[in-house]
Amino acid sequence: MMHEIKEGRFMQSVYWKSGEGYPIVLLHGFAEDHRIWKHQIAFLAEHYTVIVPDLPGSGLSPLPDEHMSIELLAEFVLNILEQERLKQVILFGHSMGGYIALAFAEKYASRLSGFSLVHSSAYADDDVKKENRRKSIRLIENEGGALFVKAMVPNLYGEKAKLALQDELMMHIDMALQIPGTSLQAYYRAMIERPDRTAVLINANFPVQFIIGMEDNAVLPADAIAQSALPPISDVHLLPTVGHCGMIEATAEVNSMINSFCKYLLKR
Ligand code: MLT
Repeated sequence: MMHEIKEGRFMQSVYWKSGEGYPIVLLHGFAEDHRIWKHQIAFLAEHYTVIVPDLPGSGLSPLPDEHMSIELLAEFVLNILEQERLKQVILFGHSMGGYIALAFAEKYASRLSGFSLVHSSAYADDDVKKENRRKSIRLIENEGGALFVKAMVPNLYGEKAKLALQDELMMHIDMALQIPGTSLQAYYRAMIERPDRTAVLINANFPVQFIIGMEDNAVLPADAIAQSALPPISDVHLLPTVGHCGMIEATAEVNSMINSFCKYLLKR
Protein backbone atom coordinates (compact mmCIF):
# COMPACT_ATOMS: atom_id res chain seq x y z
CA MET A 1 0.00 0.00 0.00
CA MET A 2 1.26 3.47 -0.86
CA HIS A 3 1.94 5.97 1.93
CA GLU A 4 2.76 9.67 1.76
CA ILE A 5 5.21 11.58 3.94
CA LYS A 6 2.90 13.76 6.03
CA GLU A 7 5.27 16.28 7.61
CA GLY A 8 8.53 18.10 7.00
CA ARG A 9 10.76 18.75 4.04
CA PHE A 10 9.80 15.65 2.02
CA MET A 11 6.05 16.16 2.12
CA GLN A 12 4.21 14.31 -0.66
CA SER A 13 7.07 11.90 -1.23
CA VAL A 14 5.84 8.34 -1.20
CA TYR A 15 6.76 4.81 -0.20
CA TRP A 16 5.08 1.44 -0.39
CA LYS A 17 4.69 -0.82 2.61
CA SER A 18 3.73 -4.49 2.54
CA GLY A 19 4.06 -7.64 4.60
CA GLU A 20 4.67 -8.16 8.29
CA GLY A 21 7.75 -8.81 10.37
CA TYR A 22 11.10 -7.15 10.87
CA PRO A 23 11.31 -3.96 8.77
CA ILE A 24 13.55 -3.83 5.74
CA VAL A 25 13.93 -0.85 3.42
CA LEU A 26 14.86 -1.19 -0.28
CA LEU A 27 16.38 1.92 -1.87
CA HIS A 28 16.43 2.24 -5.64
CA GLY A 29 19.28 3.75 -7.64
CA PHE A 30 19.78 6.51 -10.19
CA ALA A 31 17.16 6.81 -12.97
CA GLU A 32 14.98 4.26 -11.23
CA ASP A 33 12.00 4.18 -8.91
CA HIS A 34 10.68 1.61 -6.41
CA ARG A 35 9.74 -0.73 -9.28
CA ILE A 36 13.37 -1.78 -9.76
CA TRP A 37 12.63 -4.04 -6.74
CA LYS A 38 9.41 -5.45 -8.22
CA HIS A 39 10.69 -9.05 -8.17
CA GLN A 40 11.77 -8.77 -4.54
CA ILE A 41 8.77 -7.07 -2.91
CA ALA A 42 6.15 -9.89 -2.87
CA PHE A 43 8.76 -12.53 -2.01
CA LEU A 44 10.20 -10.55 0.92
CA ALA A 45 6.77 -9.44 2.15
CA GLU A 46 6.12 -13.07 3.11
CA HIS A 47 8.78 -12.70 5.81
CA TYR A 48 9.27 -9.00 6.56
CA THR A 49 7.68 -5.57 6.58
CA VAL A 50 9.00 -4.29 3.27
CA ILE A 51 9.29 -0.54 2.74
CA VAL A 52 10.15 0.67 -0.73
CA PRO A 53 10.24 4.42 -1.40
CA ASP A 54 10.36 6.48 -4.53
CA LEU A 55 13.30 8.76 -3.68
CA PRO A 56 12.49 12.50 -3.81
CA GLY A 57 12.70 13.46 -7.49
CA SER A 58 11.92 9.92 -8.77
CA GLY A 59 8.69 8.06 -9.53
CA LEU A 60 5.77 9.74 -7.74
CA SER A 61 7.95 11.71 -5.28
CA PRO A 62 8.56 15.39 -6.12
CA LEU A 63 12.06 16.87 -6.33
CA PRO A 64 12.57 19.02 -3.20
CA ASP A 65 13.40 22.74 -3.58
CA GLU A 66 16.53 22.48 -1.47
CA HIS A 67 20.02 21.45 -2.64
CA MET A 68 20.03 17.77 -3.56
CA SER A 69 22.67 15.67 -1.84
CA ILE A 70 23.20 12.05 -0.86
CA GLU A 71 22.97 13.22 2.77
CA LEU A 72 19.59 14.84 2.07
CA LEU A 73 18.35 11.52 0.68
CA ALA A 74 19.58 9.83 3.87
CA GLU A 75 17.41 12.31 5.83
CA PHE A 76 14.48 11.20 3.70
CA VAL A 77 15.09 7.61 4.81
CA LEU A 78 15.14 8.77 8.44
CA ASN A 79 11.86 10.60 7.83
CA ILE A 80 10.22 7.34 6.74
CA LEU A 81 11.55 5.56 9.84
CA GLU A 82 10.18 8.33 12.04
CA GLN A 83 6.77 8.33 10.38
CA GLU A 84 6.58 4.53 10.67
CA ARG A 85 7.97 4.67 14.24
CA LEU A 86 10.70 2.16 13.40
CA LYS A 87 13.68 2.01 15.75
CA GLN A 88 15.87 -0.22 13.59
CA VAL A 89 15.76 -1.54 10.05
CA ILE A 90 17.92 -3.39 7.53
CA LEU A 91 18.73 -1.20 4.53
CA PHE A 92 19.35 -2.50 1.00
CA GLY A 93 20.63 0.05 -1.47
CA HIS A 94 21.00 -0.44 -5.19
CA SER A 95 23.92 1.60 -6.51
CA MET A 96 22.99 5.25 -5.68
CA GLY A 97 20.68 3.70 -3.06
CA GLY A 98 23.84 2.15 -1.58
CA TYR A 99 25.52 5.57 -1.45
CA ILE A 100 22.47 6.70 0.55
CA ALA A 101 22.67 3.65 2.82
CA LEU A 102 26.32 4.51 3.57
CA ALA A 103 25.44 8.15 4.35
CA PHE A 104 22.62 6.92 6.58
CA ALA A 105 24.93 4.44 8.36
CA GLU A 106 27.50 7.21 8.93
CA LYS A 107 24.98 9.39 10.77
CA TYR A 108 22.40 6.97 12.17
CA ALA A 109 24.27 3.69 12.77
CA SER A 110 22.10 2.89 15.80
CA ARG A 111 19.04 2.73 13.53
CA LEU A 112 20.50 -0.15 11.52
CA SER A 113 20.94 -3.81 12.27
CA GLY A 114 22.87 -4.11 9.01
CA PHE A 115 22.93 -2.87 5.45
CA SER A 116 23.60 -4.19 2.01
CA LEU A 117 25.39 -2.65 -0.96
CA VAL A 118 23.70 -4.05 -4.02
CA HIS A 119 26.02 -3.22 -6.94
CA SER A 120 27.32 -0.20 -5.03
CA SER A 121 30.52 1.31 -3.66
CA ALA A 122 31.87 3.36 -0.77
CA TYR A 123 34.46 5.10 -2.95
CA ALA A 124 33.99 8.69 -4.07
CA ASP A 125 33.93 9.37 -7.82
CA ASP A 126 37.36 9.60 -9.41
CA ASP A 127 38.14 12.49 -11.78
CA VAL A 128 37.15 10.56 -14.91
CA LYS A 129 33.78 9.62 -13.44
CA LYS A 130 33.17 13.22 -12.32
CA GLU A 131 33.96 14.52 -15.80
CA ASN A 132 31.68 11.93 -17.41
CA ARG A 133 28.87 12.97 -15.09
CA ARG A 134 29.43 16.66 -15.99
CA LYS A 135 29.22 15.75 -19.69
CA SER A 136 25.95 13.90 -19.06
CA ILE A 137 24.56 16.89 -17.12
CA ARG A 138 25.32 19.09 -20.16
CA LEU A 139 23.85 16.52 -22.56
CA ILE A 140 20.60 16.42 -20.54
CA GLU A 141 20.60 20.25 -20.49
CA ASN A 142 20.94 20.48 -24.27
CA GLU A 143 19.04 17.40 -25.50
CA GLY A 144 16.73 16.44 -22.61
CA GLY A 145 16.95 13.23 -20.59
CA ALA A 146 15.56 10.74 -23.14
CA LEU A 147 18.66 10.41 -25.33
CA PHE A 148 20.86 9.99 -22.26
CA VAL A 149 18.61 7.40 -20.60
CA LYS A 150 18.22 5.27 -23.75
CA ALA A 151 21.99 5.09 -24.13
CA MET A 152 22.70 4.52 -20.43
CA VAL A 153 20.23 1.85 -19.31
CA PRO A 154 21.25 -1.05 -21.64
CA ASN A 155 24.79 -0.60 -20.39
CA LEU A 156 23.57 -1.57 -16.89
CA TYR A 157 22.87 -5.16 -17.95
CA GLY A 158 25.24 -8.09 -18.47
CA GLU A 159 25.58 -9.68 -21.92
CA LYS A 160 23.28 -12.60 -21.08
CA ALA A 161 20.45 -10.39 -19.80
CA LYS A 162 20.75 -7.97 -22.74
CA LEU A 163 19.74 -10.85 -25.05
CA ALA A 164 17.37 -12.82 -22.83
CA LEU A 165 15.56 -10.06 -20.92
CA GLN A 166 14.63 -7.55 -23.59
CA ASP A 167 11.15 -6.90 -22.13
CA GLU A 168 12.65 -6.16 -18.72
CA LEU A 169 15.17 -3.85 -20.36
CA MET A 170 12.39 -1.98 -22.19
CA MET A 171 10.46 -1.61 -18.91
CA HIS A 172 13.59 -0.31 -17.22
CA ILE A 173 14.07 2.28 -19.98
CA ASP A 174 10.39 3.30 -19.67
CA MET A 175 10.79 3.75 -15.91
CA ALA A 176 13.93 5.85 -16.44
CA LEU A 177 12.22 7.99 -19.10
CA GLN A 178 9.63 9.05 -16.51
CA ILE A 179 12.28 10.71 -14.30
CA PRO A 180 12.57 14.44 -15.05
CA GLY A 181 15.89 15.63 -16.51
CA THR A 182 16.19 18.09 -13.59
CA SER A 183 16.16 15.16 -11.14
CA LEU A 184 18.77 13.24 -13.13
CA GLN A 185 21.01 16.31 -13.14
CA ALA A 186 20.49 16.91 -9.42
CA TYR A 187 21.40 13.29 -8.58
CA TYR A 188 24.54 13.45 -10.72
CA ARG A 189 25.64 16.63 -8.94
CA ALA A 190 24.94 14.96 -5.60
CA MET A 191 27.04 11.92 -6.59
CA ILE A 192 29.93 14.14 -7.77
CA GLU A 193 29.91 15.85 -4.36
CA ARG A 194 29.70 12.74 -2.21
CA PRO A 195 32.78 11.87 -0.14
CA ASP A 196 34.56 8.55 0.19
CA ARG A 197 32.78 6.50 2.85
CA THR A 198 35.12 3.53 3.28
CA ALA A 199 35.40 4.55 6.96
CA VAL A 200 31.74 3.61 7.38
CA LEU A 201 32.63 0.08 6.27
CA ILE A 202 35.71 -0.11 8.50
CA ASN A 203 33.80 1.17 11.55
CA ALA A 204 30.59 -0.79 10.99
CA ASN A 205 29.50 -2.54 14.17
CA PHE A 206 27.16 -4.80 12.23
CA PRO A 207 27.60 -7.04 9.18
CA VAL A 208 27.55 -5.54 5.69
CA GLN A 209 26.39 -7.42 2.62
CA PHE A 210 27.90 -7.00 -0.85
CA ILE A 211 26.09 -8.18 -3.97
CA ILE A 212 28.49 -7.84 -6.89
CA GLY A 213 27.88 -8.33 -10.61
CA MET A 214 31.03 -9.50 -12.34
CA GLU A 215 29.91 -7.80 -15.60
CA ASP A 216 29.01 -4.52 -13.88
CA ASN A 217 30.17 -1.48 -15.91
CA ALA A 218 28.89 1.09 -13.40
CA VAL A 219 30.54 -0.24 -10.21
CA LEU A 220 33.77 -2.09 -10.92
CA PRO A 221 33.66 -5.60 -9.40
CA ALA A 222 37.30 -5.26 -8.29
CA ASP A 223 36.42 -2.13 -6.27
CA ALA A 224 33.47 -3.80 -4.59
CA ILE A 225 35.49 -6.95 -3.83
CA ALA A 226 38.28 -4.86 -2.26
CA GLN A 227 35.73 -3.01 -0.12
CA SER A 228 34.17 -6.23 1.08
CA ALA A 229 37.37 -6.87 3.07
CA LEU A 230 36.80 -3.71 5.17
CA PRO A 231 33.88 -4.43 7.53
CA PRO A 232 34.40 -6.70 10.55
CA ILE A 233 31.87 -9.13 9.05
CA SER A 234 30.91 -9.21 5.36
CA ASP A 235 28.43 -11.33 3.47
CA VAL A 236 29.82 -11.34 -0.06
CA HIS A 237 28.14 -12.63 -3.20
CA LEU A 238 29.65 -12.63 -6.67
CA LEU A 239 27.25 -13.06 -9.58
CA PRO A 240 29.38 -14.22 -12.54
CA THR A 241 27.16 -13.32 -15.53
CA VAL A 242 25.37 -10.33 -14.05
CA GLY A 243 25.82 -6.63 -14.73
CA HIS A 244 24.48 -3.81 -12.52
CA CYS A 245 20.90 -5.07 -12.01
CA GLY A 246 20.97 -8.42 -10.20
CA MET A 247 17.47 -7.76 -8.84
CA ILE A 248 16.24 -8.26 -12.41
CA GLU A 249 19.05 -10.28 -13.98
CA ALA A 250 19.28 -12.92 -11.24
CA THR A 251 16.00 -12.58 -9.34
CA ALA A 252 15.96 -15.92 -7.51
CA GLU A 253 19.58 -15.62 -6.39
CA VAL A 254 19.22 -12.04 -5.17
CA ASN A 255 15.97 -12.84 -3.34
CA SER A 256 17.62 -15.65 -1.48
CA MET A 257 20.74 -13.56 -0.72
CA ILE A 258 18.58 -10.81 0.79
CA ASN A 259 16.51 -13.30 2.75
CA SER A 260 19.50 -15.17 4.15
CA PHE A 261 21.28 -11.94 5.12
CA CYS A 262 18.19 -10.78 7.02
CA LYS A 263 17.81 -14.17 8.73
CA TYR A 264 21.46 -14.08 9.75
CA LEU A 265 21.18 -10.54 11.15
CA LEU A 266 18.04 -11.37 13.09
CA LYS A 267 19.63 -14.43 14.71
CA ARG A 268 22.65 -12.49 16.04
C1 MLT B 1 23.00 3.87 -10.16
O1 MLT B 1 22.61 2.85 -10.73
O2 MLT B 1 22.45 4.32 -9.13
C2 MLT B 1 24.15 4.63 -10.82
O3 MLT B 1 24.76 3.85 -11.78
C3 MLT B 1 25.11 5.08 -9.80
C4 MLT B 1 26.28 5.80 -10.38
O4 MLT B 1 26.23 6.35 -11.49
O5 MLT B 1 27.31 5.87 -9.66
